[in-house]
Amino acid sequence: MRADITVLAGDGIGAEVTAAAVAVLREIGCRHGHVFEFNEQLIGGIAMDRCGEPLPQATIDACLNSDAVLLGAVGGPQWSDPQARVRPEQGLLALRARLGVFANLRPLRVHPRLASLSPLKAENLLGVDLLFVRELTGGAYFGRKSREGDVAIDECRYSVAEVERVVRRACELACTRKGRLTSVDKANVLETSRLWRSTTERVVAEYPGVSLEHQLVDSMAMLLLTRPSSYDVIVTENLFGDILTDEAAALAGSLGVSPSASLGSGRLGLYEPIHGSAPDIAGQGIANPIGAILSAALLLRHSLDLHAEAAAIEAAVDAVLDGAELTRDLGGTASTGEVTAAVLAQLKFPRQAAA
Ligand code: NAD
Ligand code: IPM
Ligand code: MN
Repeated sequence: MRADITVLAGDGIGAEVTAAAVAVLREIGCRHGHVFEFNEQLIGGIAMDRCGEPLPQATIDACLNSDAVLLGAVGGPQWSDPQARVRPEQGLLALRARLGVFANLRPLRVHPRLASLSPLKAENLLGVDLLFVRELTGGAYFGRKSREGDVAIDECRYSVAEVERVVRRACELACTRKGRLTSVDKANVLETSRLWRSTTERVVAEYPGVSLEHQLVDSMAMLLLTRPSSYDVIVTENLFGDILTDEAAALAGSLGVSPSASLGSGRLGLYEPIHGSAPDIAGQGIANPIGAILSAALLLRHSLDLHAEAAAIEAAVDAVLDGAELTRDLGGTASTGEVTAAVLAQLKFPRQAAA
């Protein structure tokens, strides 16, 4: 097949990890006879420096004209003045809204070798296999913002239609897994959460194969640490999903290994690791590329329907996690390039995968 992929490296380690993901996609293209055309565009702080805005029109046009978008990360201390009128992160939020990618899938499995790196007891991490479905284009992120003297306001809004579509997507995904859906809200306090809860109940009733449990977000934050293997698919609103998925990433040993897929109603998707631009390690060649590489696998599966190719990348990453030297965040000494080379080697010679 032929596919156009827009690559938005962005800031900090974004360029380092997207280069790794592109190298893996090129290898898959060669091995499976696909032609992937990569079109690099600007987003975030680098776009502000070069074009004066975090999401130039040329970037939007390229994304809309492509089959999928691969993104690194945006932001950094040089653009983080609280007085600044424009921030790199606004470019990412505007892109998510423009592409209409309302469902952000954040899968999380704990690889056995990494369980000992987690601050939690390894035995509690056996069998952890979570899929977060984070609402991505609504809530406090996109409500009206204002300042009135000493007062700041971030409005949090959700409509029934916004909740319905993301819960439906979560139900469809739950049907392909264990069929257990946990909806996370703060219905004891927030009106948006009460709307979220009643809408979720109505939508889930349409899926006989899906069981539903509600959790309040504060206790869910605790339960994720105490019994993470009890959950399957977790659906929640934008801000809760942002926070819970970074928390859950700690279960897997590092923020650097978690991928994401942001999907709308069509095939076009936005794929990015869940971590940020990591200014503390940017430019040193030590960023973990696995979150970006697994995001490339999600791109193949969800936007291009290349399921075997996606599984090949995931198997190669598993083999690397089994036996290879890893990056510093996972207690190793390998560089970004060395881990990427190890994944490429596994794709070339899959039979040498460690048992
Ligand atoms: P961060 O995710 O960039 O970093 C948090 C910690 O995790 C740091 O110690 C970092 O070194 C480490 N880390 C993250 N990714 C890693 C990787 N691949 N390999 C090894 N270590 C890794 O979060 P932050 O420091 O709070 O934010 C930095 C900037 O990134 C901010 O401007 C923030 O807005 C932005 N950000 C962007 C995105 C995105 O573009 N999707 C996501 C989160 C944060
Ligand atoms: C993420 C990030 C973004 C978010 C920021 C950079 C806007 O933290 O993708 O998780 O909060 O959605
Ligand atoms: Mn986040």
